[in-house]
Amino acid sequence: MQDIKKKIYLIGIGPGDPKYLTVEAIETIKRLNTFLIPVKKGRKEELTKIRKKIIEYCRTDKNFQIIELPFPERKKAHPYENSVKEWRNKKAEMILDVIQDIDEAGLLIWGDPSLYDGHIDIVKEVQKHIPLEVEIIPGISSINVLAAKHKISLNRIGGSVFITTPRGLRKIKEISHNTIVFLDNYETFRLFKEKDLKIYWGAYLGTEKEVLFSGNLRDCLEQLVKLRRQLKKENGWIMELYLLANE
Ligand SMILES: C[S@@+](CC[C@H](N)C(=O)[O-])C[C@H]1O[C@@H](n2cnc3c(N)ncnc32)[C@H](O)[C@@H]1O
Repeated sequence: MQDIKKKIYLIGIGPGDPKYLTVEAIETIKRLNTFLIPVKKGRKEELTKIRKKIIEYCRTDKNFQIIELPFPERKKAHPYENSVKEWRNKKAEMILDVIQDIDEAGLLIWGDPSLYDGHIDIVKEVQKHIPLEVEIIPGISSINVLAAKHKISLNRIGGSVFITTPRGLRKIKEISHNTIVFLDNYETFRLFKEKDLKIYWGAYLGTEKEVLFSGNLRDCLEQLVKLRRQLKKENGWIMELYLLANE
């Protein structure tokens, strides 16, 4: 068997503030010499800056290099699964390219690497081309921060929690389980405006810009729509998450 010399760490960094780093993430960032950072241009440039700030928070020295990965945006195409696959393959090629000259690197992953993040599959794709060890450092997810800030449990007693995206939410007629919705740029909660649901919403969670909002969806829908549009306009981008609860 071929010796595996290269290693990549997928480091969960929490949802945007160093206070949400775990001790394991800090120790790993302290020890590594190379970091791979996905670069977001334009409105989302702030997310790249946050990743750099996290490295600086952990390091007092400057004995490390940051390799920026200008990942492309996903092309909107049908079927959706194929466009995601193609997008991930491009990212894998870019990682494969930079990892050739490096023994060990850390890739900083927003929140927790196992939740709505493609990098676990992307590095599996890289492993098809090069002997590469992978270690995953779990992180605090934006879901955890949402629940903590609203001071709520995610599930009702003995109940289930459904985690989805607008695509998944559109397929549901009734909210029979507490439902977390990631990546909703489309105000998909509007589909449930006639239902008796509570919404717990949070934007820029854990950062200085954090905004929380909650209420009965039927009563507060227009207020929430106004708020999120205003925040998006003011900041140029929005990162938001919500729980729909059948209370
Ligand atoms: C690509 S997913 C990554 C999720 C991440 N792995 C996690 O564990 O939180 C990005 C989505 O997560 C949610 N999210 C991540 N960080 C957030 C934050 N600080 N505030 C609000 N929502 C956040 C938003 O729905 C955003 O569109």
